[in-house]
Amino acid sequence: MRNGIFIVAVLAALIGLAAWNYVSLPVQTAWTLEQRQLLDSLALSALPELPEDPSNAVADSEPAAQFGHSLYFDTRLSGNGSVSCASCHKPELMFTDGLQLAVGVDVGPRHTPSLVGIAYSPWFYWDGRKDSQWAQALAPLEASHEHDTDRLQIARLIVTDEKYQYLYESIFGPLPELPQNPESATPLGNEQQQAAWAGLSSAQQQDVNRVFSNLGKAIAAYQRKLIPGRTRFDDYVDGLLDSNATASEHLNPAEVAGLALFIGDAQCITCHNGPLLTNNEFHNTGVLAISGQLPPMGRYDGIRFARKDPFNCVGDFSDANRSECIELRFARDTNDLVGAQKTPTLRNIAETAPYMHGGQIATLYEVIEHYNEAPISMLSHNEAKPLELRPVQLQQVEDFLRTLSAPLAAEDKWLTPPIER
Ligand code: HEC
Ligand code: HEC
Repeated sequence: MRNGIFIVAVLAALIGLAAWNYVSLPVQTAWTLEQRQLLDSLALSALPELPEDPSNAVADSEPAAQFGHSLYFDTRLSGNGSVSCASCHKPELMFTDGLQLAVGVDVGPRHTPSLVGIAYSPWFYWDGRKDSQWAQALAPLEASHEHDTDRLQIARLIVTDEKYQYLYESIFGPLPELPQNPESATPLGNEQQQAAWAGLSSAQQQDVNRVFSNLGKAIAAYQRKLIPGRTRFDDYVDGLLDSNATASEHLNPAEVAGLALFIGDAQCITCHNGPLLTNNEFHNTGVLAISGQLPPMGRYDGIRFARKDPFNCVGDFSDANRSECIELRFARDTNDLVGAQKTPTLRNIAETAPYMHGGQIATLYEVIEHYNEAPISMLSHNEAKPLELRPVQLQQVEDFLRTLSAPLAAEDKWLTPPIER
């Protein structure tokens, strides 16, 4: 009799527990086949080999990566001698800076994106105005709010620094003879720099541009080393191959529930898909304009800039055949790209706050709230629709996003300044 009461009590408790679970937190127990396929497509095991970059002949050269490593951390590549790529893309912050808007020689108009897995991206910058890593690397050097120097001064540094001269020539062949004057010249600078550039012969301009673009190629080779590492999420998905039991060691129930929302009701996977959790496309997600700025045109302008860029895939300094420049030649440029920004990777997202192209959103939870509300876009239209998720679910999505962190799979030596040799 006593046993009977005990059993009834236990049963009642179990039913109660089950009912409570059902009402407040549906527990993800088993995945359907279709869900399993989605999970597999997001895991690091699905990451292909690094894509080739036909526009950069030294993309996979080890000496070029070493040279690029030195250039990346070298503050002499700046007008005031204190800014390097690493000032904003800091290894200890997953190659971001923790700031809302980037600060180089001056405050810039955009938030610094992470460089994790950057070599997988076909387009660079929030608006995709560069079509190769090496062409991208040239722009901050000459931007007045970033490095604030110019191609002639940088070429001269390479020619006059013994170590750089040696490294450069062993990779790219003999350095050209550079003009003694002027001190500073670029077609993109202030009036004086532009006039100085116009004063060079076209052969001299070509020489300077050649050296400049080669430095971009070395920096790109370095950045190809920044490969994401294996996270708890990846262990979870691979564990599913054996049995759900092994997998459940890696993620807790709230994280699994967040994952189910991510690939389901929250619709994140529409844009954040593949092993880097980005479709490499451009979308308008209704993020507020950056304070003091007009809403940006985004990819609509970005693709037009990329086409006109003398350092693009079809330009004089590219190592590709025209036929290999598929992305550039066939890129969409339609009106729906007004206000569209590049979908960022979500790998290591917990370490790269604040978020969005202007660092407009401070925390991960607020990003998910933003998607839940899907505000009307100030320019063109917000592609995301309101989600009507409850706060507990928003928290679950955040819990899941936090499982996407792990140390990079790059050798340690690439994550600190090079040791002087
Ligand atoms: C002053 C801070 C700052 C410096 C210095 C800087 N960057 Fe950036 N970087 C940014 C910002 C901000 C963006 C986004 C700008 C935009 O999209 O308009 C960016 C974008 C990028 C991107 C594109 C990322 C993507 O997902 O599309 C790469 C790659 C990059 N930087 C590499 C470099 C390299 C290499 C250097 C040194 C030559 C460098 N950066 C110097 C702030 C900086
Ligand atoms: C329509 C495509 C789309 C959908 C759907 C979408 N995103 Fe995004 N996501 C983007 C784009 C584009 C950006 C960059 C927007 C910007 O900077 O203005 C972004 C930015 C982010 C960022 C900030 C990344 C960074 O480095 O600053 C996070 C976090 C994020 N999304 C998470 C999510 C989550 C979680 C969901 C589902 C609730 C989701 N996204 C749904 C396209 C999308």
